[in-house]
Amino acid sequence: MTVAAIVPAAGRGARFGGAENKIWADVGGKPLIEWTLSALDAHPGIDSLVIVGAADELDRIRQAAKMLTKAAQVVAGGATRAASVLRGLESLDAGVQTVLVHDAARPAVPPDLIDRVLAGVRRHGVAIPGLPCTDTAKLCDAQGRVEATLDRPRIALVQTPQGCRRDLLERAYDLAGPAANETTDESSLLERAGIAVHIVAGDAANVKVTLPVDLAAVRRALLGRSDGEVRTGLGYDVHRLTSERELWLGGVRIEHAQGLEGHSDADVVVHAVCDALLGAAGLGDIGLLFPPGDPAHRNRRSTEFLAEIGARLRAAGWQVTNIDAAVLAEAPRLAPHRTAMAEAMAQALELEPERISIKATTSEGLGPVGRREGIGCWAVATLQRAGG
Ligand code: CTP
Ligand code: MG
Repeated sequence: MTVAAIVPAAGRGARFGGAENKIWADVGGKPLIEWTLSALDAHPGIDSLVIVGAADELDRIRQAAKMLTKAAQVVAGGATRAASVLRGLESLDAGVQTVLVHDAARPAVPPDLIDRVLAGVRRHGVAIPGLPCTDTAKLCDAQGRVEATLDRPRIALVQTPQGCRRDLLERAYDLAGPAANETTDESSLLERAGIAVHIVAGDAANVKVTLPVDLAAVRRALLGRSDGEVRTGLGYDVHRLTSERELWLGGVRIEHAQGLEGHSDADVVVHAVCDALLGAAGLGDIGLLFPPGDPAHRNRRSTEFLAEIGARLRAAGWQVTNIDAAVLAEAPRLAPHRTAMAEAMAQALELEPERISIKATTSEGLGPVGRREGIGCWAVATLQRAGG
């Protein structure tokens, strides 16, 4: 059977809130809808995709669909989910015999769930994934008064993809006419038409992102990590002093007879902070990201590296809780520059300056730093995984 996935994505995400449609919410550096599309694209039982988007988001969705390996069309949706799905249904190729309708807002759909739905369609014509209801369920009136207690073992909480033979879904839309808009999923429409719907086992990981809190469950399912996770990283750097160069520390140019040797501006404070941040996030170190031999980085401001690292951390879902740096220098006196350094680094990281602390100490004449041969810096950084 030739299978097409119809992906309704044309909602507004009103319950999710936010400035834009929830399908663009960030999950591990990618918009939510890209995860959904990739899952369907990767499934061997699906031949093509039709993505139904809001009229003003079609270009952006087309862009997201470019990475797909299977044939994919993008069409404009309607005012209700049922209207959007109908648009998808109308634009299917003639050869399509089976449709799987899958919410764009369910990015963590497991492949074996899709297998079960397809097997159910082959057997029964219509199959949808359902979960058992674990709480006691009541039927209530509009005033919240209980009318009846439902028979819990007979209740299924249903998900998508909802699979059916194409001709059955077309018939159900024809029979319902405009009343189709009153339904919130395909199976209700099929039920109205008297077509039998079968349940296959759903999966709790296949959450629909409806409220902001649902993002946490989706991140857990897709990225295998939980929100609120805290990590710490350590960074250290030392550079040799020379009379040939300007002194840059913590992103600030400091008046001094000597500066530091190095490929970039040799800002030892920023370098230690970069390594602390990268270490906490498990993203390597500054030498890996900005190789010292690379002419592209020659004489670059180290705060540019810091800004890029800040962007990478945000993309990976990390927030910087705080940074603490201890500079080892016999001279110059750094206390007057502490605020400016915190501000410069905070700006590069798009952070409040209060989250950055800088201390300086001499080495009492001991060791290479004490002999004024160089300046060193230790830094620790604490990161927290962004909440959902
Ligand atoms: N959908 C659609 N066209 C509509 C309404 C919804 O294609 N007119 C899609 C949504 O984009 C979503 C799926 O149907 O992927 C499930 O709907 P829902 O979770 O209700 O999403 P929204 O309608 O966007 O959210 P809300 O109801 O909170 O506004
Ligand atoms: Mg809706």
